[in-house]
Amino acid sequence: MADAVFPEIRMRKRRKDEAARMKYRQTRAISLRDLIMPIFVKEGISGKKAIASMPGIYQFPVRKIAGEAGAIYRSGIPAVILFGIPRHKDDGGSSSYEETGVVQQAIREIKKEAPGLSVIADVCMCEYTSHGHCGIVKPIIGSRLSVIGKKSRRRPDAGHRTPIFEVDNDATIEILARISLSYANAGADIVAPSAMMDGQVKAIKEALKKGGYPGVKIMSYSAKYASSFYAPFRDAAESPPQFGDRLTYQMDYHNSDEALLEARLDIGEGADMLMVKPALGYADIIYRMKKELDFPLACYSVSGEYSMIKAAAMKGYIDERKVALEALTGLKRAGADQIITYYAEEVAGWMESESFDKAQD
Ligand code: PBG
Repeated sequence: MADAVFPEIRMRKRRKDEAARMKYRQTRAISLRDLIMPIFVKEGISGKKAIASMPGIYQFPVRKIAGEAGAIYRSGIPAVILFGIPRHKDDGGSSSYEETGVVQQAIREIKKEAPGLSVIADVCMCEYTSHGHCGIVKPIIGSRLSVIGKKSRRRPDAGHRTPIFEVDNDATIEILARISLSYANAGADIVAPSAMMDGQVKAIKEALKKGGYPGVKIMSYSAKYASSFYAPFRDAAESPPQFGDRLTYQMDYHNSDEALLEARLDIGEGADMLMVKPALGYADIIYRMKKELDFPLACYSVSGEYSMIKAAAMKGYIDERKVALEALTGLKRAGADQIITYYAEEVAGWMESESFDKAQD
C-alpha cells in the first residue's frame, strides 16, 4: 500500500470530471446483455392485466406472449424468465407438467416469434398447487392437520411453532424433474428450479439427460432465502402459501456459509449457473459466491426491490432512473454476471433515449 498520505495523495483528483471518473471506473456500466426480464403468463385472461403491487408489470395471456417477448428481444435484452399462472390448481400441482400447460404453451409461442431469445423457465410448484407450497404437502403423522384444506386455513401454522405439515422433498423433486422435461420438450433453453428442495438439480439433470436434452441448461436458485421481499410477486403469480410459510425449505437469512454449501452441492449435482435471491441486502452472498466458487452467477432482484423503488419514485422521493441504475450496478460490482430484474425492459428504454453513461451521471 502507498505510504504517501495527504497532501501528496488527493483522491478527489479521480473524481474531478467525467473523463477522470471514467478512467478510474472499475465496474463497467450495466449492459442490456446482463439483464433478464421476468414475464408472467396467465391462463384464462384475454388481455394483459396490471399487477397492483408492481406498477408497470403485467400478467399476459398466452396469445399475447409472443408479441411481448418479441418486443423485449428487439429492445436488446437477451433472455426472459417465465412464470405461469394456471387455470387449474390442485394439491398435487398437476397442471405444472402438462404438455399443454400455460408455460409450455408460452415457450412454444415465444420460440416461434423470437427463436434467438433465451427462454428460461422457472421450475416450481407453488403457482400450481391449491395450498401454494413449492412441493407436495403431507400432514405430519399425529398432527391435527388431517386434511389440508379450509380447516387448516383458520389455524395457520406460524412455522416456528409445532409444524403440522411438511413438504415432501423426495416426492417433489420427481415432479420438478417432470416439469423440467416438459419445458425442455416445449423448447426452453434453461430451466431454473426455485423450490429449494434437496437434490432437485440432480433429479432434473438426470431427467433431461434421459429425455434427450443434455444441452438444456440448469440455472439453480442455489441460495434462495425465505424473504419478505417476495410479497408483491406472490400477488403477481397468485402463489402465496395458504397456511404456514416457506421457512422449512427456503434459507434462513441469518446465514451465509450455508449459501456457499448449497451452491457447492448444486455444482456437484450438475448446475450450469448459480443464483442468489433476493439481491438487495444479499450483496455479501453474491460477492462470496463469485469469489470463492468462480462459477457463472446470476442474482434475482426480486419483486419487493422493484416495488420499493417504484413506490418511492411515484411519491417523488427519489429519482427512479438514477436509483434503479445505482442498485443494478451495485449488484454487478458485487460479482453478479447476470441480473434478473423487473426493470430490464425499462432500462432498455432509458438506454435508447440517451447514451447510457449520460443516464448514469
Ligand atoms: C417461486 C418463486 C418465487 C419467486 C420466484 N420464484 C416466490 C416464492 O418463493 O415465494 C419470487 C420472485 C420475486 O419476488 O420477484 N417459488
